[in-house]
Amino acid sequence: MAVLRFDWNTLYADLKVCTKCRLCETRTNIVISDGDPHADIMFIGEGPGREEDEQGVPFVGAAGRLFNYLLEEAGLDRKSIYICNVVKCRPPQNRDPFPDEADACLPYLRAQIALVRPKVIVCLGRISARYVYDRDIQISRQRGQVKKLGAFLVLPTYHPAALLRREELTNDFVSDLITAKHLAENDPVT
Ligand code: URA
Repeated sequence: MAVLRFDWNTLYADLKVCTKCRLCETRTNIVISDGDPHADIMFIGEGPGREEDEQGVPFVGAAGRLFNYLLEEAGLDRKSIYICNVVKCRPPQNRDPFPDEADACLPYLRAQIALVRPKVIVCLGRISARYVYDRDIQISRQRGQVKKLGAFLVLPTYHPAALLRREELTNDFVSDLITAKHLAENDPVT
């Protein structure tokens, strides 16, 4: 019988003392997740920014505030979804995580996916989609295209921070959130 190596307690205990990559040297707090660990929809971002690092909670900065607002627009409640990131420690100056940093952190993300067992995974932005959906993703062409990966439906969309720079992407983003909601409720996607 396959034995799941992680339970939540082990995962949290391991993460709190993690030194698997250089990002541990500059973190204030490790940022593990927010929301409901039994959620049907899991959102995966890239990595914590300054405010997330300070508070130890994902998506609480400017992009997070916009994300909260647009979740509501789509009829989703932040408390009923699960939110996490590819890397759990802040990359300095908000640079993209290096591949070795993401690779070091991926076992934690895989454990989170296995423990939450969401129906739908939404990748927020290119970095998240690269590691979960398609290594060569082009977000502008592939956003909104649902793929079945094992037991999960995976939907890539824009990163909320992209909407702060390009407001015209907002309608597509909200439409992707609504698609995720319908998929999770097993409703036909219209
Ligand atoms: N951007 C991310 O990708 N994740 C966060 O938690 C915050 C900003």
